[in-house]
Amino acid sequence: MAPSVTSAGRRQFLKLLAGSPLLAGAALHPGLKALGLQEDGIPTLDDMFQVMDFKPLAERMLLPEHWAYLATGVDDDATLNANREGFAKFQLRPRRLVDFSDLDMSTELFGVRWNTPIGLSPVASLKGFHTEGEPGVARAARARGTLQMLSNQTSTAVEEVNEARGEPVWYQLYTRPDWEGTHALVKRVEAAGCPVLVFTVDLLGGRNTVTSARAQGTEGTRAAFCANCHEDLRKPMSLGLPPPVFGGRGGRRGPHTWDYVKRLKDATSMKLVVKGLVTREDGDLAVRYGADAVMVSNHGGRAAETLRSTIESLPEVADGVAGRIPIILDSGVRRGTDVFKALALGADMVTVGRPYVWGLSGFGEEGVGAVIDILQRELQLIMRQTGAYTIDRIRRGRHVVDRRTGQIL
Ligand code: GLV
Repeated sequence: MAPSVTSAGRRQFLKLLAGSPLLAGAALHPGLKALGLQEDGIPTLDDMFQVMDFKPLAERMLLPEHWAYLATGVDDDATLNANREGFAKFQLRPRRLVDFSDLDMSTELFGVRWNTPIGLSPVASLKGFHTEGEPGVARAARARGTLQMLSNQTSTAVEEVNEARGEPVWYQLYTRPDWEGTHALVKRVEAAGCPVLVFTVDLLGGRNTVTSARAQGTEGTRAAFCANCHEDLRKPMSLGLPPPVFGGRGGRRGPHTWDYVKRLKDATSMKLVVKGLVTREDGDLAVRYGADAVMVSNHGGRAAETLRSTIESLPEVADGVAGRIPIILDSGVRRGTDVFKALALGADMVTVGRPYVWGLSGFGEEGVGAVIDILQRELQLIMRQTGAYTIDRIRRGRHVVDRRTGQIL
């Protein structure tokens, strides 16, 4: 089991970092300064008031290559930025004098009641961010009744993550080069008890992760240093995933067509979610080819460039799905109000990726828990403030306005 990082230990580590020749003379990170930190610049969980407070700390804690892998978008980062800007295009319409004493954030998906509609998206290689890795995330998520999707690029075996959580997680699938390999993986995940397979379809053509590629260092440093953990240094890091870590399995395959969704569906008793849709047409096709849910996602801006934000894509996907199956949304979610807007515009569940990894990077399991807690508190606050005190009331309450058209949604 990974050693747990006490806050005293963490402070010591940060002090060491601050005194290291690598950082000698380096000014306090502007983001950390913005937290109001003056002295040693070492924040504790008490200094964290919002999700974005975790970001500069994660940047400071991580190896530059790992930070860049997490932060990267593609090309000019236009999709990455659009995801945040998208939420600002919608504003809220609160109702006053509503008795919210029965406030209830819980929601049901696939017959399971989740404490809130806020879940965790799959993120690769979590032990590259903190030794507690996927098991730490699993424990934090379980303690809060939070939905968790495990990345296909996990640095901890799915069976071990399920054990840490005490129940099976959802599993994200990238296919293998051949059907036999994919089928074997699906069967292993099914045997591990995972109830849901999340087939990711937005990276089948490849990508250009410029920020990450720039940070990957020279061949020499990679050979000397990165090879300690990464098994295969020959894989181009700019076009695919980072090399498999700690025995994780990589590989993005395609092309696939909609028939592949049906093939997967027929091959397993797990529910099948198709992740990465942003159009009305694909929402409809997903239902017709047997998906049990769709995920409106642009991979956190890490797949294709100059896409709309997911919050702007959501209404048309919801139109295509037409209420036949649930909709999950991710990409750019950083606030309780973002979650609120997504629920109001048609999502049943909203998930975050980078934010919980910032929490993990800074504080391990505790940091993941703190990020979830902050998002939950913010959602609760805005539910009280708008009078939309159940998820159903958020959906039906017409609490959102399109700021460009003034249309009430
Ligand atoms: C993996 O899914 C990635 O975005 O790197």
